[in-house]
Amino acid sequence: MRRLVHETHISKDDLIYPIFVAEGENIKNPVASMPGIYQYSIDRIDEILSEIKDSGIPGLLIFGIPKHKDELASGAYDENGVTQQAIRYIKKKYPELLVVADVCLCEYTSHGHCGVVKEDKILNDETLPLLSKMAVSLAKVGADIIAPSDMMDGRVAAIRKALDENGLADIPIMAYSAKFASAYYSPFRDAADSAPCFGDRKTYQMDCANGREALREIADDISEGADIVMVKPALAYLDIIKEASAYGFPLAAYNVSGEYSMVKAAAEKGFIDEKKIVMENMIAIKRAGADIIITYHALDVAKWLEEKV
Ligand code: PBG
Ligand code: ZN
Repeated sequence: MRRLVHETHISKDDLIYPIFVAEGENIKNPVASMPGIYQYSIDRIDEILSEIKDSGIPGLLIFGIPKHKDELASGAYDENGVTQQAIRYIKKKYPELLVVADVCLCEYTSHGHCGVVKEDKILNDETLPLLSKMAVSLAKVGADIIAPSDMMDGRVAAIRKALDENGLADIPIMAYSAKFASAYYSPFRDAADSAPCFGDRKTYQMDCANGREALREIADDISEGADIVMVKPALAYLDIIKEASAYGFPLAAYNVSGEYSMVKAAAEKGFIDEKKIVMENMIAIKRAGADIIITYHALDVAKWLEEKV
């Protein structure tokens, strides 16, 4: 009877798994703050790609970690950059896997900020052409979806225009629309080696107190041409997810690194039942209104869904 009246379902079809690809050889570096998550070099990336493929989830979100970083993030739009090489490899060997490419400069800049920096200020408009170049470059090597996570104003319009002008009109944009300046990202910054070396991201990411502003950010991205919108993080922002679902656009929620690490740490200590907690979290995110969940738990969830009677 419970099966008949169960309102919210989680399916493999809902999940995207983030991966970290590092430049270099023979790398499988565990991320200390994210148990079970590794940085892989391209020559060892099959270890994780085969798992993703076998799990039956639709695809992955890729983050590249270059060796060389500079002020203008030149590795981000280098046609032989680590992310470009990785995407070429993935799409050739695993054409059925959907590749979502994160577009942001922070993994590629020497200062670790998501945009161009001048006199300790992050310059919004000067950043847009670089993000556009990066998006075009990643789409050209095979990215199926472009996902700008930088939070500069006007970037969705700039990227849409650049894609269209480069013959990439059918590449969709998944915009990190309501992305909050969150302490929940700190494990990710270990994983992606992208912590800002001064200040914080509060001049471009949102204040966690601002729900109405989040809705304006989403509306802006939709009017600029976003195809999928996102709320990030997920669990502390279920109210935003709920309200965002009213736009009727495909809605993604990013269950971020810190949310993952808290569950893993508590589970390792035996304080909680990892599987039950994770499945409850997934249901909560979907119940709030998300269609898509980006989560480091995706491969486990896919496995647990198989076990379910
Ligand atoms: C890059 C980016 C970040 C995340 C996704 N893309 C970090 C940040 O903005 O500092 C966070 C993901 C996570 O915590 O899992 N802009
Ligand atoms: Zn960034």
